[in-house]
Amino acid sequence: MRILVTGGAGFIGANFVYYTLKNHPDYDIICVDSLTYAGNLSTLQKALKSPRFTFYRQDIRDRDGIDAIFQKERPDAVVNFAAESHVDRSIETPELFLQTNILGAQVMMDACLRYGNVRFHQVSTDEIYGDLPLDRPDLLFTENSPLRPSSPYSASKAGADMLTLAYFRTYGLRATVSRCSNNYGPFQFPEKLIPLMIANALEDKPLPVYGQGLNVRDWLYVADHCRAVDLILEKGEPGQVYNVGGHNEMRNIDIVKLLCAQLGKPESLITFVTDRKGHDLRYAIDPAKIRAELGWEPQTPFAEGLKKTVRWYLDNRPWWEQIISGEYRNYYQRMYGDR
Ligand code: NAD
Ligand code: DAU
Repeated sequence: MRILVTGGAGFIGANFVYYTLKNHPDYDIICVDSLTYAGNLSTLQKALKSPRFTFYRQDIRDRDGIDAIFQKERPDAVVNFAAESHVDRSIETPELFLQTNILGAQVMMDACLRYGNVRFHQVSTDEIYGDLPLDRPDLLFTENSPLRPSSPYSASKAGADMLTLAYFRTYGLRATVSRCSNNYGPFQFPEKLIPLMIANALEDKPLPVYGQGLNVRDWLYVADHCRAVDLILEKGEPGQVYNVGGHNEMRNIDIVKLLCAQLGKPESLITFVTDRKGHDLRYAIDPAKIRAELGWEPQTPFAEGLKKTVRWYLDNRPWWEQIISGEYRNYYQRMYGDR
């Protein structure tokens, strides 16, 4: 089996590369990533030593470039992780999100059709459902919940998700979609909540919590997401959508306090800052379908996953220190400077 993974130099894509190299000794992986600010070749350092791993620096929006890779590598399956993934950045520059997340996904699907109906998996997100009220814990997102994206990011992901299902229906593309909740774990770019708070706390900087910190996210350890995608590739049915999540809802403020406790830092570092525009209140996934149909269960309890994550950031300081000392400083100033 030859799997082409897009976005493999990013957070979840890289974890998927390592998961697959370890669990499928008979698979070859072709990684396609344009190395945007969020892609990091040093993340793939170990993979690059494997004869079963090949890397192409390539933008998924470039049809000719993608075609040439398909022609040379002849993949059996494609997993599309490549995306602009940060909500706050999408509020600044929505157009880039539409281009990469929708048109880039289309380029990948067209290539799959041209080269013999290659199996395609689109990595979508729970954010396409919009949000749920804080006072209705009984409500969860199912695969049949209406799509009500709130941000340019989630609207672009909803576009790609719908396009994938349209390609299945119209052209018979052998495609599946997964809609996962918030991931955390090694190699997550420090613009996202958990690594941002770890990095700031370790440097005794303020911990910027949006609004009152009462928004709820449904957290899943990244390896559990990777296993879900792997299972869907192997056993999922084309045309189907699978929600992925572990019933692990947490308020932002509680996560930040937990991190302070684990790092031995005072809660006085917490600073409440102006809320995100259009900020979704609560996400909560109902994973009943993937559990019943594919036998998927999350394996990492949150307390264990968070400890492992904190340990990873402590043990891999050069990885994130290099990021936050570069262009990231301008981003941070723009985003948080006078918030
Ligand atoms: P990330 O931002 O860490 O990584 C994205 C990767 O895509 C980077 O390596 C980047 O260089 C690459 N990329 C961006 N634009 C590209 C382009 N035009 N061509 C080629 N490569 C390009 O993102 P992530 O958090 O790892 O998310 C991966 C996927 O999973 C995304 O599709 C995201 O929407 C989805 N997702 C993320 C989460 C989460 O909690 N992080 C949850 C559910 C779904
Ligand atoms: O639900 C899946 C989605 O999860 C993915 O599709 C996205 O790619 C991924 O980025 C993530 O989106 P969120 O917006 O939920 O993640 P983020 O880490 O940006 O924020 C998590 C919560 O923490 C959110 O309520 C905003 C809040 N937050 C975030 C940052 C960066 C803060 O309070 N302060 C911060 O500095």
